[in-house]
This record gives sequence, C-alpha cells and structure tokens, in this order.
Amino acid sequence: MMSALTKGFFLYLSKNRTLNRAAKKWGLKLGASQVVAGNSMESMIVKVRQLNERGLLCTLDHLGEFVSSKEEAVEAADAAVRTLDAIMSEGLNSHLSVKLTQLGVDIDIDFCLNNMRRILEAAEKYGTFVRIDMEDYSHYKLTLDILQSLRETYQNVGTVIQAYLFSAEEDIKKLQGVPLRLVKGAYKESPKVAYQQKKDIDENFMKLIKIHLLSGSYTAIATHDHHIIAKVKKFVAEQQIPRNQFEFQMLYGFRTEMQQGLADEGYKMRVYVPYGSDWFAYYMRRLAERPQNVSFALKGLFFK
Ligand code: FDA
Repeated sequence: MMSALTKGFFLYLSKNRTLNRAAKKWGLKLGASQVVAGNSMESMIVKVRQLNERGLLCTLDHLGEFVSSKEEAVEAADAAVRTLDAIMSEGLNSHLSVKLTQLGVDIDIDFCLNNMRRILEAAEKYGTFVRIDMEDYSHYKLTLDILQSLRETYQNVGTVIQAYLFSAEEDIKKLQGVPLRLVKGAYKESPKVAYQQKKDIDENFMKLIKIHLLSGSYTAIATHDHHIIAKVKKFVAEQQIPRNQFEFQMLYGFRTEMQQGLADEGYKMRVYVPYGSDWFAYYMRRLAERPQNVSFALKGLFFK
C-alpha cells in the first residue's frame, strides 16, 4: 500500500515548475509513454489510429500546465484548434477535451470564453464534440456558468459532473439534455462540499448515472471500476437503454484489456488520450493516484 507520504511526494513533483520545464526537453521518460500518447502530434496520430482500428473511440487532451499569461492561454487554444485540424485531416474518430484553466479562466473570464468560442467554431465546422473537463471545486460553479453561456450558441459542448460533490444530483437535474461525463472526482475537496468515503461516492455515482440515463440524456460513464461497469451494464439492459445513448470512458493505458473487452461486446468505449510535451505533471498525478502505476515508472527507469 502506498503511503500518504509517497502520494504527497508525487503530487509535490507534479507541481515543481523546474522539473516540468526540464521534462519538456527529455521526451517521454520513466514509463510515461504507457499513459501519454507521445509528445508530438505525429506520435499521437499513430496511437489514435491504432485505437480506432481496434474499435475504440478517443477524446484528445493536449497537455498543458501552469498557464499564467494571456499569451500562454492563446497558445493552449491554438494547440486545441490544431488538434481539431488533425482530427479532421487525418480522419481520426475523436473528440476533444479541454481545461478552462489552460484557456485563461483565472486570468479573465471573457477572454477564456472567447478562446472557447474559437475552439467550438472549429469543432462545429468539423462536426466534433468538445468536453470541458471539471477541475477543482473553486472552478466548479464558474465552469457550469461558462458551459451554460456557450450552450446558448453551441450544441457540441458538454462538461463533467463529479459524484463526490453533494450538489451533483441537483446540478445534473438542471443539466438534463446536456451530454455529460460522469466521474467519481479526482481532487481533494473539503468535507463541507464533498463525500469523503469511497462507499458514499460510489453510491452517489450510480445514482447520478441512473438519473442522467433515465432522463434520456447522453451519458459518458468514465471509470476504471469494474463493479460500477457491471452495475451499469445490468441497469441499461433492464431499462432497455439504447447503446447509442451512453458510452464508457477510460484513460489511455489503463485497464486496456477491459477497454477492448467492452468495445468487443459492442459498447461504445472512448479512450481519453493525453499527448504533448508538457507530460510530466499529468504523469506524476497518475502515479500519485494509484500505487500500481509506480511499477510503470520503475520499469521505465530500467528498460527505456
Ligand atoms: P477507483 O479509482 O475508485 O477504483 C475503483 C476500483 O477499480 C479499484 O479499487 C480497483 O479495484 C479498480 N481499478 C481502478 N483502476 C484500476 C486499474 N488501473 N487497474 C486495475 N484495477 C483498477 N475527474 C475529475 O475530477 N474531472 C474530470 O474531468 C475527470 N475526467 C476523467 C475522464 C476519464 C476518461 C476518466 C476515466 C476519469 C476522469 N476523472 C476526472 C477522474 C475520476 O474522477 C477518478 O478520479 C478516476 O477515474 C479514478 O476513479 P475510478 O472511477 O476510475 O475508480
């Protein structure tokens, strides 16, 4: 069992700007290539094509951290548009995932909205969907407000609801008809706003999945938890929910056999594919999250 100390150590590394800067020059190291689909557009295209050929859909995330100026946020928006261009020109079966902090939401909300509009225009032209990842609770309400404002003009945008939040049920009821990705939640949140126990989070997760599916809304169930997946399969069969009303999602490199198994059974299975030279913090967060992932890094040290 990995100690809180080790977890804290990886999270500490993820926030270290010097290491993050240095890692951009290293190329993918320490086994990161198992969970990041390359540090260039070219390598990403090869990986997505391989996944598509095996019947797996994708959503691409161009990695980026520490955006603190408008120039950096514009660069992130440019990278998102370039990713959409590649989806179109290479005929990839993929959506796009973005983070509002990368697009300047902490600098200026209207500026961030304009960056989002530019991305959504390109996505609309190409018939692609854009998902706004949900970040920590300090950005939660703002993200929902921005989504609502964007959906007045664009239908090809949705977001994520985290089952650990007490307000999640009320919020998904307000978001009926909006395509949502439902997750357990990845950040450390206060007991004032979020469930802390796995059992409570899992129960709420299933409850939200059922509510959103029964409302007829498109639902992405993003989890590596085989217990939840088994329950979802049973529920959709009992309720005769059509397979084109939902999909499963997992991260690139995680439970790949299970991903393939679901696709082979005829479920829509979408892989969240991070790529780009800014891979270090993403990889450190994955190591912090799950002890077993550390073996990736150890193998990487010895066999790369
Ligand atoms: P959890 O980590 O609770 O694991 C449950 C059980 O599943 C484990 O006890 C183990 O038995 C099994 N298991 C899990 N992972 C395994 C593995 N790799 N190998 C073998 N067994 C494994 N969060 C957020 O806050 N905002 C967001 O926008 C997103 N977006 C997002 C997209 C996608 C595609 C995914 C998959 C996840 C996210 N998340 C997220 C992260 C999410 O909130 C959550 O933190 C992680 O998915 C971990 O929770 P799980 O539901 O996967 O299972």
